[in-house]
Amino acid sequence: MTSVLLPTSTLSTLPTLPTLPTSPTTTYSFHQLVQDIKAHLGNDGIEEDPAHLISLMNRYSSDATEWMRYFHNDLSRGYTRNSIANINGRANLLLLVWNPSKGSPVHDHANAHCIMKILSGQLTETVFQAPEAGESKGPLQIKQESVRRVNETAYISDDIGLHRMWNNGQEVAVSLHLYTPPNAADYGFHIFDEETGQASHIKP
Ligand SMILES: [Fe+2]
Repeated sequence: MTSVLLPTSTLSTLPTLPTLPTSPTTTYSFHQLVQDIKAHLGNDGIEEDPAHLISLMNRYSSDATEWMRYFHNDLSRGYTRNSIANINGRANLLLLVWNPSKGSPVHDHANAHCIMKILSGQLTETVFQAPEAGESKGPLQIKQESVRRVNETAYISDDIGLHRMWNNGQEVAVSLHLYTPPNAADYGFHIFDEETGQASHIKP
């Protein structure tokens, strides 16, 4: 193939191309994520499929301009829980904002799926073995500890154990949480004393 060399004088007169926007066909927006979760959970009688919901969460790349409207920070508290959507009465979608060196107590998930995605900063997740019913003496046993970073998706249910989320980072962390079914909001959940294993019911 022969190439044509343009004279320098011609090159300098060529118009500059406009800046092209990022292709909307390849960007999976926050709005689309919420719509897809709603579509999946939109039919009564259809079992929640956590693997599918996790795949949707994984597909999204965090863009603060898309979720900032739900962002509310309160420096007097460890973290805030900000409602994004109640999805057909079958799930709650929340934006959690975590101050540095603050976190949650050890808690269960009220027999529901919890799918969580980090949107900004990082959170340390410590998973504990859930004590057997009636067995609540002694420190909780740690099963696993992981640092969850931006765009990472994590999953937990009572079948896996209890967990505590903590912001060990230097900056405010933001995470997206999907709870389905919304049992904790409807019936409450439990927090646990890490040293004694004692459970306390938290009413909705
Ligand atoms: Fe949790």
